[in-house]
Amino acid sequence: MVDTVPSQYSKYPQPPVRRYLVNVDSAGIPQLATQCLVVGGGIAGLRAAIEASSTRKVILVCKGSIEDSNTYNAQGGIASVLDPTDSFEAHINDTIKAGCGLCDQHVVELVVRQGPQLIRELLSWGAPFDRSAQDLHLSLEGGHSYPRIAHAYGDRTGTAIAQTLIAQVQQRPNIRVIEQFFAIDLLTDQEGRCVGVIGLDKHHGLQIIWANYTILATGGLGRIYRETTNPPVATGDGLAMASRAGAVLQDLEFVQFHPTTLYIAGASRALITEVLRGEGAILVDVKGRRFMPDYHPAAELAPRDVVSRAILAQMRKTDATHVYLDIRHIDKGLVARRFPMICEVCESFGIDVSRDLIPVRPSAHYMIGGVKTDLDAQTSVPGLLACGEVACTGLHGANRLGSNSLLEGLVFGRLAGAFVSNAPVNNAAVFRHPVIQYQVPRSDRSKLDTTDVRNSLRALMWRNVGISRTGKRLNEAMEIIRFWQRYVMDKVFDDPEGWECQNMLTVAFLMARSALIRKESRGVHFRTDHPACDDRRFLRHIEVIRPASN
Ligand code: FUM
Repeated sequence: MVDTVPSQYSKYPQPPVRRYLVNVDSAGIPQLATQCLVVGGGIAGLRAAIEASSTRKVILVCKGSIEDSNTYNAQGGIASVLDPTDSFEAHINDTIKAGCGLCDQHVVELVVRQGPQLIRELLSWGAPFDRSAQDLHLSLEGGHSYPRIAHAYGDRTGTAIAQTLIAQVQQRPNIRVIEQFFAIDLLTDQEGRCVGVIGLDKHHGLQIIWANYTILATGGLGRIYRETTNPPVATGDGLAMASRAGAVLQDLEFVQFHPTTLYIAGASRALITEVLRGEGAILVDVKGRRFMPDYHPAAELAPRDVVSRAILAQMRKTDATHVYLDIRHIDKGLVARRFPMICEVCESFGIDVSRDLIPVRPSAHYMIGGVKTDLDAQTSVPGLLACGEVACTGLHGANRLGSNSLLEGLVFGRLAGAFVSNAPVNNAAVFRHPVIQYQVPRSDRSKLDTTDVRNSLRALMWRNVGISRTGKRLNEAMEIIRFWQRYVMDKVFDDPEGWECQNMLTVAFLMARSALIRKESRGVHFRTDHPACDDRRFLRHIEVIRPASN
């Protein structure tokens, strides 16, 4: 493992998840086997599957349809050095500066330097990146010293990239895609090696997929918060599964909040891309006053954590539930061309962005921490790799630059796939576990309203583990989560909502605990009771691992 920044380990038990122990064969559970199993169909999972399929049989499973991912919804774009007057050094420095001392230099160099060739590869596969004259059109986002954000269909970049990769996946006979497959647990053998997953297939019920290598690419966890830009699938399942399998998780206190999310009662909290601020959009409070210059010299293009906290402070000062984004002064043609999705969403609520202000406030957007991986995307569990938002590669440190994550997903997806493609595979080993004793879940959900628990958890996380934190509120959150865990974790379910609820509680507890340990403010983690950055004690990662006996 490359780890240029030291780590602080924290081991603590989690309530065990109740399962019934049976012999899988005699329980008659359908079983498949493959050389490479990819869990998740966002940019990282798709790119991993494509790479692995050059030499391996691949099964890619996704929880919903292959289009249900954060990638598909991404607006701003993908950051890379694509203009001859930009430089790798500048992108590397910008990323490291944003990361507040916790970036892994090797990883930053690797991702930044591999970016352009992987974007050229996307172009060769037909990705419709927007152009100006002969060249790609590149936008600016906060923290980037140069316009380097490639985008497609204006603000539908994620959809364009995902469709390009899905088309490649569909052309490869070595890849089988299974949609509507909810992975319940990673399976490990007696030596602790990951040998596949057990999950719930919408059509076939419980199913086991044995695999020589499993690549976790399950994305993020925004849905743990009441306010989020993330789609319903983002419930942190990969993190919870990896934790149960004994993997090291890292930096879970670092959740990025996006400053500008559409805030209309009854509307989904749609992202209003930062690129708009790069094009000159300004933030005004409910009295119509521009306030960002009071908070930071870069005003609206200050780092996201600064803008998010400034918005909250201004909401408090004006006793309002939101502030406004003003784009009325920006050329109408440009807005229509570059931001069609935002125009459409706003229009559906009667907001004409050329005449009206857009009500916004911050919401949970991106999990910076995750399953700790090395330069090959390997986790601490043999046979298990991770890439994309579920992974913590060390690229982002304590704060993520906008549009660096699609790049990370592309680079580490390819690396994970390449590792599996080149690693030795013993085909007989895939079928080696037919009589494994796994604790197979059986339904018992009647007594529990998990929707109520989930809603309560989301409100608690927003209040106590949100943009500003204190030790008192973090402790309170842990205590309440523990209480809910006492009666949720011993239940078993026959549909994904219940399992998701358990996963959300597991991950929420680990996040609150990590945030409590970090008694300082750094990057996106802000403690009002420890407002200063404390390099002496906390220039280090916080790792969490479940004790072996638990
Ligand atoms: O504002 C945005 O378009 C977000 C981009 C990102 O989170 O990378």
